[in-house]
Order: sequence, then structure tokens, then C-alpha cells
Amino acid sequence: MKVTVGVSGGIAAYKAAELVRALQQQALDVHVVMTAGAQRFITPLTFAALTGHRVIIGLWDSDGEVPNANSAIEHISEAQSTQTLVIAPTTADILARLAHGLADDFLTTMALATPAPLVLAPAMNVQMWEHPATQANLATLQQRGARIVVPDSGYLACGMLGDGRLAKIESIVAAVLNVLHRRHDLANETVLVTAGGTREPLDPVRFLGNRSSGKMGYALAEAAQARGARVILISAPTRLNPPAGCEFVPVTTTQEMRQAVLKQLPQSTLVIKAAAVADYRPRVQAEQKIKRTGPITIELEPTEDILAEVVRARKTGTLVIGFAAETERPLEHARGKLARKGADAIVLNDVARPEIGFDSDRNAATFLTATTSIDLPEMPKRALADRILDEVLVLRRPRLVVAELDAVSSRATR
Ligand code: CTP
Repeated sequence: MKVTVGVSGGIAAYKAAELVRALQQQALDVHVVMTAGAQRFITPLTFAALTGHRVIIGLWDSDGEVPNANSAIEHISEAQSTQTLVIAPTTADILARLAHGLADDFLTTMALATPAPLVLAPAMNVQMWEHPATQANLATLQQRGARIVVPDSGYLACGMLGDGRLAKIESIVAAVLNVLHRRHDLANETVLVTAGGTREPLDPVRFLGNRSSGKMGYALAEAAQARGARVILISAPTRLNPPAGCEFVPVTTTQEMRQAVLKQLPQSTLVIKAAAVADYRPRVQAEQKIKRTGPITIELEPTEDILAEVVRARKTGTLVIGFAAETERPLEHARGKLARKGADAIVLNDVARPEIGFDSDRNAATFLTATTSIDLPEMPKRALADRILDEVLVLRRPRLVVAELDAVSSRATR
């Protein structure tokens, strides 16, 4: 498996040589890309000797003048063929350029062009690290799915004490292995995700809706896709763009969502119902705009419970995960929902917490099954999506776990 190490211009650049070695010890084929700044701290020759590959140091040929068609193609192929791009050290400047999508050298161009996951190991002076601009750039990149290996604390090259020292090499290697391993762990799954808030029309211009932004569902679709799944995203209206590569089915009402879900169910191996589905719809939809005539009463009828229907109609082996957004006694209500609907798990959101409420880019959740309750602390929704998928995958192996536990307990009692 091929991994690209990007080295940017900080004093910790010399530690990248150690990182290259450590990744090679994991049987990875390591390639190196250096920024101009990095070359002031360590030479490309060091990395060429360690890796046995030419080190890419710029967008242009070595004469610095004439773009060479072959090298341009080689550059794109580097971006396409690598399985992970790990940038260590990541300077504050590179973080800012990545966050803004600049592509003015090879490393930043590659970061835009590659479909591979991005692992960033920042290293810088403590004040630069703590600066709101750096922290905002980090949050943006994390939100887009980059994996951040946070710096260690200690004495820095500038003589100050604090956060900013490049994380331990073994932590960076562990992060790379983690994303590589995750990369294809959903390769055999067809994941159906529902997202957004359904709308039930009252008249030609009004509807009953809810405050769901769709961000959690879209993050799940994106994460599942990045992990190799075929993804079908059935979405009620949102302001979001569907992740590239997903099969996208736009719907508006609960009834339309139900029909789309039941149509796609036979081919799905994992259903994640993140949508906020209306529980009631107007019994009749007015043909013309309702005029103001004083108080009116609108009669509502219950909608179909799509989740419960999916649980009943699914084929053996298809996992079904529901969501519960609660404002009071969250655990009790979510446990009730899990039992009532028969889902394999419920992702519980406590929407009474304003900092992670509707439309927020961050979220915290509890992943509930009949026998377990796992707290997933506050983090960007994209990162939470991966944590949820990690827990879903644990459900795929329950028998193995039980068998292993049996084996352990029989060994222990022998
Ligand atoms: N759901 C569904 N169809 C509905 C309502 C909800 O499929 N008509 C799904 C949601 O997508 C979510 C889960 O069921 O995954 C829980 O939704 P929620 O509205 O919290 O559950 P309800 O059963 O409607 O309970 P409540 O009384 O709290 O509204």
C-alpha cells in the first residue's frame, strides 16, 4: 500500500525521516513530497535515499521554468494512486492554505487533487497553535474529514513551553494505519442513508417542517462513501450539496421518503435513518392558498413509521440504525424507541444542548443497542459520522465477540 508523506517547512521537518522509516516498517510503500520551506531544513536526498523514490519538490521541472507535460501527469498520478497523504510536520501556514483550498505548490495541489484521506500532524510555536486563526483552520479541515494528530506539550524549539511539539512518531503512524484500515472496511456494504427534514404541505405555498439541517446524514453518507461503501442518499430538502459519488434521491414528504426507502431496501445491507421525519401531516391539503379568516384548526393525521416498516421488511443481515432527537429524559425515550421500532441501534441526540443543537457543525451522541450504551463526545459531525460507523461495524461481528468471550471465560475457568 502506498502512502505519501508531505513535509512542510518547520524545525520538526527532520523528524519526518523517522516517520518515513516507521511507516516502512509497517510494510508501506512511502513516497515523499516536500515544500520549498521543508528543503531549507532537510534535503530531498535524505528522503530519496530512505524511500528509493524520487522526491517531488515542486510543480515544475527542476529547472524551475518550463512545465513538463510528463511531470504534470506524474503529479496527478501521485495524487490518484496514494492511499493516504500524511503531512508531518504541518505548519500553521500549510494549515491555512489547506483550509482555504490554495494550490500554489505541489503539496497543496496534491491535497486538493487526491481522493485519499488526509492525516495532519501540526507542529508550531504554542502561540501560533493557540491562535484563533489556526484553531479555525483546524476545525474547517477536521470538518472536511482530515484526521488531526494533535501536537504534544513540552519545550519547543523556540524555547517556550506548551502545546505545539510534533506528536510522537508512533501516534502519527497509528493515525495513518487507522485511516488505511478504515479506508475499505465498508467495501462490501450498500449503505442507505436518509437525511434532512421532511415537509408536509398545508397548501400550495406552506408546509409543516422541522429544523433538521441534514448535516449529520450527509456526513454519514460522505464517511460511508470514503470507507468504500456504495451509498444511496435519500434526502428531504436541505441547503447542502450531496457528497460526490453518492446515488442521490431527493424527496420532500414522508410518503415520498417511504416509497424511495422501500424501493432501495432490497439492495441495502445497512440502513441509517438520520432523517427527521414528520410524525403528522395535514389530513387534507388545501388546493388554494389558505386565506387569513381568523383562527383556524388544521386536522393532522399520523404518517407511516418508515423505520419500523424497514425493520419488518429488511432481509436477513441488513442492519438498521435509527436516530432519536430528544429534548427531555433522552435515555429513557431513546431506549423506548429502540425496543418499539426493533432497530439494531439508535443514535441518541440530546437536542436540548444549544451548542450542539440543530444546524450546528458539531454534535455529540449516545450509540444505544439493546445491551450497550456508548457515549460519543462532542466533535465535528464528519468525525462523529466515522465513530458511528465504527460502532455499526462492531454490530457486524457480535457472534465473533461472543465466541471470543466464551473462549476467554472457558480458558479463565480451566
Ligand atoms: N422515523 C421514521 N418515520 C417516521 C418517524 C420517524 O422512519 N414517521 C424514524 C426517524 O428517521 C428516526 C427514528 O424514526 O430514525 C426516530 O424518529 P423520532 O421522530 O425521534 O421517533 P418517533 O417514533 O416519531 O417518536 P417521537 O414520539 O419522539 O416523535
